[in-house]
Amino acid sequence: MTGTKAPGRLVVVSNRVALPKQTATGGLASAMRAAMRERGGLWFGWSGKIGSDTGRLRRVRDDTVEYVTLDLSRTDHDQFYAGFANRALWPLLHYRPDLVDYRREQLEGYLRVNALFADHLVQMLEPDDVIWVHDYHLIPLAARLRARGVKNRIGFFLHTPLPAAALLIGLPRHQALFETLSAYDLVGLHTARDLRALEDYFLHEIGGAMRPGGRLRGPDGRSFRAAVFPISIDTAQVAQSAREATRLDEIAQLETSLQGRALIIGVDRLDYSKGLPERFRAYDHLLEHRPDLHRRISFLQIAPPSRGSVPEYRQIRRELERLAGHINGKYAAPDWVPIRYVNQSFPHSLLTGYYRTARVALITPLRDGMNLVAKEYVACQDPKNPGVLVLSRFAGAAAELRDALLVNPADPAELADALGRALTMPLRERRQRWRAMMDVLEKQDIDAWSKAFLERLTS
Ligand code: UDP
Ligand code: G6P
Repeated sequence: MTGTKAPGRLVVVSNRVALPKQTATGGLASAMRAAMRERGGLWFGWSGKIGSDTGRLRRVRDDTVEYVTLDLSRTDHDQFYAGFANRALWPLLHYRPDLVDYRREQLEGYLRVNALFADHLVQMLEPDDVIWVHDYHLIPLAARLRARGVKNRIGFFLHTPLPAAALLIGLPRHQALFETLSAYDLVGLHTARDLRALEDYFLHEIGGAMRPGGRLRGPDGRSFRAAVFPISIDTAQVAQSAREATRLDEIAQLETSLQGRALIIGVDRLDYSKGLPERFRAYDHLLEHRPDLHRRISFLQIAPPSRGSVPEYRQIRRELERLAGHINGKYAAPDWVPIRYVNQSFPHSLLTGYYRTARVALITPLRDGMNLVAKEYVACQDPKNPGVLVLSRFAGAAAELRDALLVNPADPAELADALGRALTMPLRERRQRWRAMMDVLEKQDIDAWSKAFLERLTS
């Protein structure tokens, strides 16, 4: 079946759900909120709360979307969310095998919560629903649904990178987990590199095969399609929000505080994948080698705390506090603070105003599935006087935003050079680069992304 609208109700399933009026930090929540606004449907996932009654569902309706959420028990939260998902899978998928802390009971907790999600879902499903499952928390969900007799179309989108097969096989019992992807009809990934990794894993590590027409067959004999769908933003809405934000008091206050200094901005969940210590060291390097820039720039790093129940996240938080203190201690003057480090989250509408105020965005993850902040920064610029995006080569967004200043985040000197270049880039070049990136985002927005995925899933 083809057409612009997928048949049947859309049922989205993800661990994190962006409930109405919540400030949700995270690309999945931002993107799916925008996608659901357009399409409507049911969105099922974790309430974000720990509770003892995991059989009770909460329902909220907002316009065209019905949100259904459940609490997790303390044990399920610790083993599934703070355990296997975020201490084994997340570091593995972000090329950090050194941080993987695999424990069998946590994998069992992960499988148990997937089964719990499946038990609840089967009660809600209608025969022509199209089910769209999201992210690494729920890889085995389709297999659990199929085991309960669900015949509906089921798609999966992975919001993280997928690392090389040689890394994936380092995870104990990897095959039992990853081969369940074949229970989906369609698996979507952000980039061609991620897709190559998936194909390589199925073809060369677990005895799968490529079938005529490009479907992958798993060792269990089930076949599925896998394809690249780079996620995006609601470009027109984000641009409009940035124009409107210029009227907000908070933006006027930020501008006053800058006293004509050029603002460099970073916005990232406080996560070790985001390359924040490396970024802070690069800024230190710049200040050390470019005394002419002292007092003329100000770096605002917004870093809302994330996954505080996981030890590695508490550790990176301490490290960044130390580094920010070190930089300010070394360079600050009575009337100048080189780095403003803010551990707080902000509503999207206000962030768009901050992006527009910033002359440079410094977005330098060590690995990132896509990085929507990079795309939002571009969409928020004033076309007459756009800022410059300095972007890690290892963010999925770098595959599309070729006109950013692309850097290897591990080299502080390279990063500092790019920052220096961004700060002095002539208007003409800024406009050319911005236009080229905006062309991509206008064509490839969130609506195009979800339509492309759903059309492929239902055809
Ligand atoms: N975000 C937000 N408020 C904040 C920080 C971030 O709304 O204080 C949003 C940000 O605008 C973006 C998303 O959270 O839409 C982060 O997505 P991204 O893909 O950059 O990174 P992720 O957090 O998913 O790794
Ligand atoms: C990334 C993941 C999402 C997750 C988000 C925020 O974007 O891909 O699945 O929702 O981070 O993390 P959290 O653990 O707070 O949901």
